[in-house]
Amino acid sequence: MMDIIENGTERTPARYLVTSALPYANGPVHIGHLAGVYIPADIYVRYLRLKGRDVVFIGGSDEHGVPITIKARKEGVSPRDVVDKYHGLIKDSFERFGISFDIYSRTTSEIHRRTASDFFRKLFDAGEFVEQSSEQYFDVEASLFLADRYITGGCPRCGADNAYGDQCEACGSTLSPMELLNPRSTISGSVPVLRKTSHWYLPLDRYQAWLERWILEEHKEWKPNVYGQCKSWLDQGLQPRAVSRDLSWGVPVPVEGAEGKVLYVWFDAPIGYISNTRELLPDSWELYWKDGGTRLVHFIGKDNIVFHCIVFPAMLRAHGGYILPDNVPANEFLNLEGKKISTTRNHAVWLHEYLDDFPGKEDALRYALCANAPETKDNDFTWADFQSRNNNELVAVAGNFVNRAMVLTHKYFKGTIPARGELEEIDLAVARQIPEIIARVETMLETFKFREALKSVMDIARVGNKYLADTEPWKLSDSRRIGTVLNLALQICANLAVALAPFLPFAAAKLAAMLRFDPPAWDGIGGVDLLAPGHDLDAPQHLFEKIDDETVARQTKKLRDRELENAAAAANLAPQKDVISAEEFERADIRLATVVAAERVAGTDKLMKLTVDTGIDRRALVSGIADVFAPEELTGKQIPVIVNLAPRKIRGIESRGMIAAVRDASGKLALLHPSNRLPDGSTIG
Ligand code: 2FM
Ligand code: ZN
Repeated sequence: MMDIIENGTERTPARYLVTSALPYANGPVHIGHLAGVYIPADIYVRYLRLKGRDVVFIGGSDEHGVPITIKARKEGVSPRDVVDKYHGLIKDSFERFGISFDIYSRTTSEIHRRTASDFFRKLFDAGEFVEQSSEQYFDVEASLFLADRYITGGCPRCGADNAYGDQCEACGSTLSPMELLNPRSTISGSVPVLRKTSHWYLPLDRYQAWLERWILEEHKEWKPNVYGQCKSWLDQGLQPRAVSRDLSWGVPVPVEGAEGKVLYVWFDAPIGYISNTRELLPDSWELYWKDGGTRLVHFIGKDNIVFHCIVFPAMLRAHGGYILPDNVPANEFLNLEGKKISTTRNHAVWLHEYLDDFPGKEDALRYALCANAPETKDNDFTWADFQSRNNNELVAVAGNFVNRAMVLTHKYFKGTIPARGELEEIDLAVARQIPEIIARVETMLETFKFREALKSVMDIARVGNKYLADTEPWKLSDSRRIGTVLNLALQICANLAVALAPFLPFAAAKLAAMLRFDPPAWDGIGGVDLLAPGHDLDAPQHLFEKIDDETVARQTKKLRDRELENAAAAANLAPQKDVISAEEFERADIRLATVVAAERVAGTDKLMKLTVDTGIDRRALVSGIADVFAPEELTGKQIPVIVNLAPRKIRGIESRGMIAAVRDASGKLALLHPSNRLPDGSTIG
């Protein structure tokens, strides 16, 4: 629905409440988050503000739940340390990237604890929960109930031996902890026992009929991916969901006798939208959450659909007094260079790193991620596509058009906007096209089709380029005609400065400054009288800059290096060392040598003195292999020796070289011998 229908007439909502998923503060934000949630939300909000609508844009960090405690355990710090670190990093990088939240707060705030606690209590008092006890895995050594992610064991589907209690990463199956074969606690390594515990459940089944009506009948306009996922949940039949957990990190369950229990993170997180609105607007927050004139829109990724379309609305309804989301424009996922983005495997383009690596190029990423947003299906981000969108679209289309209009005006009119003469058909046609394009951008934005909207905005520049190419003002001699063409071209630039603003706010501001133009509200554009003749322009500057091949190569190398690091870490191996050149490697002189004598170094367990024949000489060297090999096992054997290593004194013996031996991750040792004997001194490499 574009607008609220009342008595058959369309009405603009009195206000908008726009939320974007609260990212877990267990790691930085990456391009998948941006393309899926924050860029579309920011475009929408910036557009609404330009339309003069009353809108608040709510963001914040999701600081509870098991992902935080897992990260804390891994880093050997407290959950509080983890959320402080990542909340700060995320907030700062969003700001630098121009995500224009009205508030970016956190779910560890006092106001959130109170809001979530009161919400639970109201439902509890109204008898909206069902209390149920069940048996859950308990780690006796660590003395705690184990969240699903803290239990590993054999996968009942594919047999992999390190599946988690909620999922097997080898085969992708969704699991429950009870299904795991030979379960173990990841905290203590012990075998968990089953212990009775009781929790509160939100009986979603009671809301089934209402949700079917509300979503399937009243919200047929929701995006097909969102509607489809809701339908499939509803078709399966909703089950009661536990809203509490046995954990020490979270909002305590505000009920007597509930010590050691906290609210389930998916119960408290969406309430975070309410808490953050309260923090922003202590006096008027209720207008946004309780007045029927508000349009509530949740921007999320597809993994959050059930929580925002089914669970949270059921919570709001159970509570009463709150409005419900009008739309939930969830996106699909963005992959990176053909692989799933992964925080744990560090396969991602992190926002804070991008901002450091590409200063002043915020809009290049905003553009690439919006133009390639996973709106209807999963999409892939590649650095090559990023470069080509920047160079062939931003620079070659938008930047080029603006630059030509500016440079020509400076050349022919010393930077002063010329007056228009009589308009010819080609001018009139262009003047007609601009408002048509802008109307299309609006329709696309109002229906959450951000890719299409951006494409249309770029059409403004395309029209401008074609206009200059067709009229060729640089070939004309009639100054009045040149003035007409350049006046129109500059009016198109002014339209572009406003239409680009929701998408590329940095470039739009730069363009407005170049035109010395105070941009009007959105509804003020579309025409060709935005800039008055006689008005002086600033000096031309490039709106966008090309991105070269080396820059792209550095980024793809970064991803490849991390992939090798991850593979090594997964196999418990040392990471690959820094790359060296062939010349550097060739400086090492490695040769076959025969051990002619071997004896333990007195007073040590590990050291062995070897006398080796290197073909060029006989020399002594000391090696740490005496705990594994006996002297008699070594004599007569051929082994590789690095002969040009700087000599070192070890236990009074001058060691001239080093044998090349193999060591595995646990420290086990093996020696290398040639497959067939070659003369001592033969070189290796
Ligand atoms: O999926 C996530 O990253 C969650 N932290 C999103 C929470 S959205 C809202 F409910 F807070
Ligand atoms: Zn499996």
